[in-house]
Amino acid sequence: MPVAIGLDLGGTNIKGGVVDENGKVLAQGEVPTLALEGPDAIVGRMAKLAEEMRAKAPTPPVGVGVGSPGPLDPTTGMLYFTPNMPGWDNYQLGAKLAEKLKLKVVVDNDANVAALAEFRWGAAKGTKTMLLLTLGTGIGGGIIFDGKLVNGPKVTAGEVGHIIINDKGPKCGCGNHGCLEAYCGTEGILARAKALLELPGTVSILREMAGREYEKLTPALISQAAGKGDGPAISVLKETGRLLGVGIASLVNLFAPEVVVLGGGVARAGEFIFMPVREEVRRRAMRPASEWVKVVPAAMGNDAGTVGAAALVLGDK
Ligand code: BGC
Repeated sequence: MPVAIGLDLGGTNIKGGVVDENGKVLAQGEVPTLALEGPDAIVGRMAKLAEEMRAKAPTPPVGVGVGSPGPLDPTTGMLYFTPNMPGWDNYQLGAKLAEKLKLKVVVDNDANVAALAEFRWGAAKGTKTMLLLTLGTGIGGGIIFDGKLVNGPKVTAGEVGHIIINDKGPKCGCGNHGCLEAYCGTEGILARAKALLELPGTVSILREMAGREYEKLTPALISQAAGKGDGPAISVLKETGRLLGVGIASLVNLFAPEVVVLGGGVARAGEFIFMPVREEVRRRAMRPASEWVKVVPAAMGNDAGTVGAAALVLGDK
């Protein structure tokens, strides 16, 4: 059975895997991204990880698929830019990697490939139209419409994190104001949590957990506090879910998906996020799509990025 190497380029780690045609991960590995070292050093680490994967593959891999943040040209593998990892402007990611590996390399947006994985093998299996949102430092989006991944001719589509939910909202990493990511990406969530903790009347276990300068404050810590019944933590997550729901309602009006899959670290907060998302989508999107659409957690967990990336070279998108 043909196998491929999938690489998932994240702001913190690069994940790699050997994946077969059934989406099964046969081997995997991970190295730190060390984003501050810049693209050339990172591509070197990606190539090294890919070589390690190649050595573990049962048959010679048919190619390497890469999921990367940022709008990019999927036909050439050139990254236009990425909002949360500076220094990658017009960077020939695909060509540089192919030159090092002497293998076919196909690059697509990280959330697009996660959508492919969930569509083929995960939470959206059996559907024809689905959306996926990855909730992390950035908010990524992948759209599969009528069985096909939606991309423009020279640029990946589905930049869901940068739909604008308030034109006068906070500044986003992309340079715009009021993007969904500015509210519901890690920075936005932490800003809301800090503002609430600063209010004189707020009583929360987060104060102690987060440290003096809030240096330990993360979305995961907020989820942990929420799990212990902490009111302010719950309200931060609820508001995050509500705002996500506002954005997703517009997407439901546009695409009438059967399923919206939410993945990424923040989605692990579970019902604290999912419940307000569902409520807001029902309230704001148009009937009947608003009543039919299911908002569900991603099923492929940490593997979605590598498996979906491998899928880029393992068959038709
Ligand atoms: C980028 C997307 C990416 C997402 C998650 C966003 O800021 O614009 O391209 O998919 O972050 O990494």
